[in-house]
Amino acid sequence: MSLQNTAVPSTGAATASERVAQHRRYLMCRPQYFTVSYEINPWMHKAEPTDTSNALRQWQTLYDTYLSLGHEIELIDPIEGLPDMVYTANGGFIIDGKALGVRFSVGERRGEERPFMDWFAAHGFEVVEPVAVQEGEGDILLAGSTILAGYGFRSSLESHREIADVFGREVVSLHLVNPDFYHLDTAISVLDPVEGSGGVDKANIAYLPGAFDDASRGILQERFPDAIRVADADGAVFGLNSASDGRNVFISPRATGYDAQLRERGYHPVHVDLSELLHGGGGIKCCTLELRGGQR
Ligand code: ARG
Repeated sequence: MSLQNTAVPSTGAATASERVAQHRRYLMCRPQYFTVSYEINPWMHKAEPTDTSNALRQWQTLYDTYLSLGHEIELIDPIEGLPDMVYTANGGFIIDGKALGVRFSVGERRGEERPFMDWFAAHGFEVVEPVAVQEGEGDILLAGSTILAGYGFRSSLESHREIADVFGREVVSLHLVNPDFYHLDTAISVLDPVEGSGGVDKANIAYLPGAFDDASRGILQERFPDAIRVADADGAVFGLNSASDGRNVFISPRATGYDAQLRERGYHPVHVDLSELLHGGGGIKCCTLELRGGQR
């Protein structure tokens, strides 16, 4: 693999050797009971067969890849009858040891709410019970000091005020308009925080412009002028549904254009194929919930 030291003017001219991997602690859930028994997003088709052992194998590769790069993985026990529990990003949203629980818009997943909150409580997080409907880190992303929050399909706009109150941070509301990209984490990938004059304030991000309405595209353009704009073809294979440690960006091997864009900017794409889990409408990020702060 060749890593080019291409100087990129607008995003800090970082090269692969300069980008620094930051330690991450993630919550994952083995897809032991994974299947598609209901349809709550356009990717899910009950009539198409799923292969749970393939899902387990692919998921294990993601798990092993994170570990091999020095990250820490916590596991929540899968529960029979909750096939989407593998998508732990929807389990909550956590900053500084404070975990806001999830309140699903879809009845099929409401059984996951309590188990996730119980897990957070048992692992030393301060749990905040949610009032408004929102689907955790699927729709809520931390970008530097700001929170980006999606609405339009699953999370409610009302939840954005609650999120701002709970975490005492600015929340930028973004309107999702393409049903294929029904969660914010299918349309935006936060790559790394950027140090500003007052500490970490901004972030480098990548996004899929077509997933948003004009007003939200305008907001993204203004706030993130240097962002990577990802092509529709890469979005369509869930290329943006990726995790990043600031250097290694875990992406679908099918997102070849995005791969090249990342390399140009000095990131190190790491390919993990979760094609089986795409039958449920999820990818790498969906299977990854970041645990920020809290006791170890
Ligand atoms: N089948 C799941 C659902 O529709 C997929 C969740 C994907 N998760 C995510 N963070 N985008 O709820």
